[in-house]
Amino acid sequence: MPLVSILNELKRAQRERYAVPCFDTFDLFSTEGMFLAAAQKAAPTIIAIYDSALNRPNARAMAAYIRTRAKEAAQPISLMLDHGSSFEQCMKAIHYGFTDVMYDGSRLPLEENIATTKAIVRVAHAMGIGVEAELGHVGSGSEYRSYGAQRKGFTDPAAVEHFVQETGVDLLAVAIGTAHGLYDGDPQIDLELLRNIRRRVDIPLVLHGGTGCSEKQFRDVIEAGISKINVATDLFVTTGKRLVEIAKTAEAPRYFDLTSKAIESFTERCGYYLDLFGASGRV
Ligand code: 13P
Repeated sequence: MPLVSILNELKRAQRERYAVPCFDTFDLFSTEGMFLAAAQKAAPTIIAIYDSALNRPNARAMAAYIRTRAKEAAQPISLMLDHGSSFEQCMKAIHYGFTDVMYDGSRLPLEENIATTKAIVRVAHAMGIGVEAELGHVGSGSEYRSYGAQRKGFTDPAAVEHFVQETGVDLLAVAIGTAHGLYDGDPQIDLELLRNIRRRVDIPLVLHGGTGCSEKQFRDVIEAGISKINVATDLFVTTGKRLVEIAKTAEAPRYFDLTSKAIESFTERCGYYLDLFGASGRV
């Protein structure tokens, strides 16, 4: 099996109340850890490349590598563009063979977000590619005290049905109290708002900013209707710390010891999230 659009897996996750993680990758070590974790846990998995990384000289080759590796996998694996910044970037990802794209127009006025999302959906659907959009804005964890904790950018539930109907989008990322990166403070998630949004539309809902949430928060959001959870920072911060520790304590740390430890660490962290979100054993 396979390289697939993750839509069917997410619909199943929505029905059966678990979540599929979306891991952002930046290099071959993190990518390898993601594939090994998906195989060990027999779990569907989304591997994502950030919009900015799509401009790197190795972007097309990275996409080809992930596609090849996914085609050989026994689990459904999606290659997704994360936070696509424009129509053009989403088209580039489609051209590079991504199976799903996220367009992030969350900073734009509502009607502009709708117009661009709709245009991307039209092309993507003609090619069998799933589209995620963001309504409300998930900010940065470093500004959490002055932003998310003040409920700034939260998804307006009254706009949800209009947005989903107008755009035809497949997945909706919601702003309910999480933020990207390390938090200044603790995340406070509004589960009532999430339940309210869940009642209004039937498509899978997405939580961004997984790093820093507690296990209970993850269980609660899944129970309240989240089916896809994005995690990035924790994978790299945890692995970075582990490598520094090895470099400090080993007598003569060798390059290959460090790279194999990096893969091991990504495998362990991704496996932890696959278990925690209930995706393990779903293949
Ligand atoms: P974190 O880096 O906070 O885990 O967020 C990841 C994310 O939401 C990527 O889209």
